[in-house]
Amino acid sequence: MSHNTFGHLFRFGTFGESHGPLIGCMVDGCPPRIPLTEADLQGFLDKRRPGQSRFTTQRQEPDQVRIVSGVMVDERTGVQVTTGASIGLIIENVDQRSKDYGEIRNQYRPGHADFTYDAKYGIRDYRGGGRSSARETAMRVAAGGVARKVIPGVTVRGALVQMGPHKINRANWDWAQVDENPFFCPDAEAAQAWEAYLDGVRKAGSSCGAVIEVVAEGVPPGWGAPLYAKLDAEIASAFMSINAVKAVEIGDGMAAAALSGEDNADQMRTGNAGQPHFLSNHAGGILGGVSTGQPVVARFAVKPTSSILTTRQSVDRFGADVEIRTKGRHDPCVGIRAVPVGEAMMAIVLADAYLRHRAQVGDGAPQWPFAR
Ligand SMILES: Cc1cc2nc3c(=O)[nH]c(=O)nc-3n(C[C@H](O)[C@H](O)[C@H](O)COP(=O)(O)O)c2cc1C
Repeated sequence: MSHNTFGHLFRFGTFGESHGPLIGCMVDGCPPRIPLTEADLQGFLDKRRPGQSRFTTQRQEPDQVRIVSGVMVDERTGVQVTTGASIGLIIENVDQRSKDYGEIRNQYRPGHADFTYDAKYGIRDYRGGGRSSARETAMRVAAGGVARKVIPGVTVRGALVQMGPHKINRANWDWAQVDENPFFCPDAEAAQAWEAYLDGVRKAGSSCGAVIEVVAEGVPPGWGAPLYAKLDAEIASAFMSINAVKAVEIGDGMAAAALSGEDNADQMRTGNAGQPHFLSNHAGGILGGVSTGQPVVARFAVKPTSSILTTRQSVDRFGADVEIRTKGRHDPCVGIRAVPVGEAMMAIVLADAYLRHRAQVGDGAPQWPFAR
């Protein structure tokens, strides 16, 4: 039984725990001769790295990625490229404080994976949550960097669109703002208001949830497959596999249920770039599990951090009631650092969909308008 791998033709698997010596992953199936350096991946990891503002955990992990296999310098060009072999990526863990977790060795944090891991395995690495720690998501971000190189025509961007109960004003959406505030928020006004809100949450020793939107532009029509390999199903699976994610929406998502047929179905007119022009994108760029050529739009909701400073009721391994107050350095809103993780998972799903589309349809993909 192995549940540490994801994907089909573009496949990656992670290993390592939060308080072990390192974390790593193997990316399998990456096509050869794609230029790839550590610097290509590091920028994405820097976005996820902790300790960058007072609004994220103060753990100091530099998250320097090393590529240990699957690349070499092509002597003809002098450029380091993928060889087609498995790409090994590692990141050393440098800032662990296992003693912070001594008290929860035998106690179960409400909302965390402590009880369920014990119930399943009978043993659990309590230091930093072990395998349930979102430290693992650093490797997804690294693998996502490789995936982006497989689909260079696709731009994947993520943004925080809701913090706790506070939503952005979508009329203010400006992608340029995402890099201008500590929340990856596309609405400058909302980001300003969130500062005071999250300061309050943090100082109260509490936490809050968030909603993240990920948009992929440049996906041509035809990626994904019907039924069990629906592109939307694979995106949902990818997002749901991220720690603390409790819901996923594609396009209008849950809100689609309240629309009329006229309002929901995206009308089409002839375009002028070899594809029909859609008059709206309620579908989130996917119909029948296959990309339409419109931006692929998906959102996920992240629950509030469960390790909080407030005292909560729980039980211990031995069957006693306990009062628990989690020490350690935790994010007051894990949704912030989940933004680059969501982007990475979207890129991974799309790279995999692209390779499978190419394998099945190859150069024979029909061009619209189709022959009579
Ligand atoms: C980027 C990121 C950082 C996280 N950091 C923390 C943390 O500091 N403390 C915590 O209790 N949970 C944190 N989590 C959430 C836990 O890893 C997660 O709740 C736990 O593994 C239980 O799994 P589940 O919430 O998916 O059921 C984080 C999640 C993400 C995505």
